[in-house]
Amino acid sequence: MKHIKYRFSSSSTDFYFAYGISHLKEITDPGATVLITDENIFNAHTKRFKGWRTIVVKPGEEFKVQSTVDSIIEQLIGFEADRKTVLVGVGGGVITDITGYVASIYMRGLQFGFIPTSLLALVDASIGGKNGIDVGVYKNMVGIIRQPRFILHDMFFLNSLPQREWENGFAEIIKHACIKDAAMFNELESMTLKKYQQRKINICKLVQRNASIKAKVVQQDEFEKNERRLLNFGHTLGHALENQYGLMHGQAIAIGMTYACKISEQLNGFSQTERVTNLINRYGLPTYFSFDKERVFEVLKMDKKRERKDMNYILLEIVGKGITKTIPLSQLESIISNF
Ligand SMILES: NC(=O)c1ccc[n+]([C@@H]2O[C@H](COP(=O)([O-])OP(=O)(O)OC[C@H]3O[C@@H](n4cnc5c(N)ncnc54)[C@H](O)[C@@H]3O)[C@@H](O)[C@H]2O)c1
Ligand SMILES: [Zn+2]
Repeated sequence: MKHIKYRFSSSSTDFYFAYGISHLKEITDPGATVLITDENIFNAHTKRFKGWRTIVVKPGEEFKVQSTVDSIIEQLIGFEADRKTVLVGVGGGVITDITGYVASIYMRGLQFGFIPTSLLALVDASIGGKNGIDVGVYKNMVGIIRQPRFILHDMFFLNSLPQREWENGFAEIIKHACIKDAAMFNELESMTLKKYQQRKINICKLVQRNASIKAKVVQQDEFEKNERRLLNFGHTLGHALENQYGLMHGQAIAIGMTYACKISEQLNGFSQTERVTNLINRYGLPTYFSFDKERVFEVLKMDKKRERKDMNYILLEIVGKGITKTIPLSQLESIISNF
């Protein structure tokens, strides 16, 4: 068990690494707390929610939308939740994104915390305060940046995580290695998903290392003016593919990272694409997808990293060092149409 406080511009987040949901009552008063989770997690771990008022929503990205927000708000009113109520999202990235968003708007803002239960949420989605929902094919189109008060890790939840969700989480881990941590990239090359799953200590260390990478990047640039943009490596094209083709987030960004490597070759002299694609494949993720380039570009150009006629695209200089490059939309369109 390890407790670390990360300070951000106007608030801080307490990280409780390798704790357990049983410690939640020491952090927040059960009488003034509402948990939000999804059916998969609730059904696999029903006992662990005993003694907590819990709102259970339908699982999956298609429910990361306004109608789910409305239904949670109605249930909160039913619970007579007030401004002292604390919301705790227990789930994957969909649940943490929705919980943080509802907590930010209900009665103009409640405190909130997370117990991330998917690998992706442990290493990425729960950290950094970006909370929001999708609008049609546009991912995370509506939302807010507001930090959770705490993040508690209970690695026991991973016991029920489906294999494909493990792979999904490794996409973000590989992303962190590509943009920030060449030593971790080497470690990942020498390990396998199975080896991480077999030894609890290995996965605990890897999760903490990745959570720290993300928390430190966010500390430096909470509102995404420069450094934080690096975390979007693989996400510009990835997001455009994700909802249009119903891909999993990890799959979409794995493909996005591959194409970002190819663009890095063209614009930046990057020469390690094969190393990156080998690593992506090693963890069961795809590196290629046949897509309708025009349709995808139409969605891509609405990305939040666009500034008028330019896109801020994340490229690699070498493995372990990401950079932001401003690419005119017209040039990006021609690069993508030639893939
Ligand atoms: N806010 C951010 O900074 C940020 C960063 C990265 C990703 N995200 C968002 O996170 C989402 C993806 O996260 P995700 O992959 O965790 O999605 P998710 O919440 O949909 O979880 C994936 C699936 O795994 C199930 N699940 C989760 N934990 C489980 C467990 N312990 N046992 C059994 N089943 C479990 C869920 O029910 C769901 O079916 C996307 O919407 C993405 O936009 C947000
Ligand atoms: Zn992501």
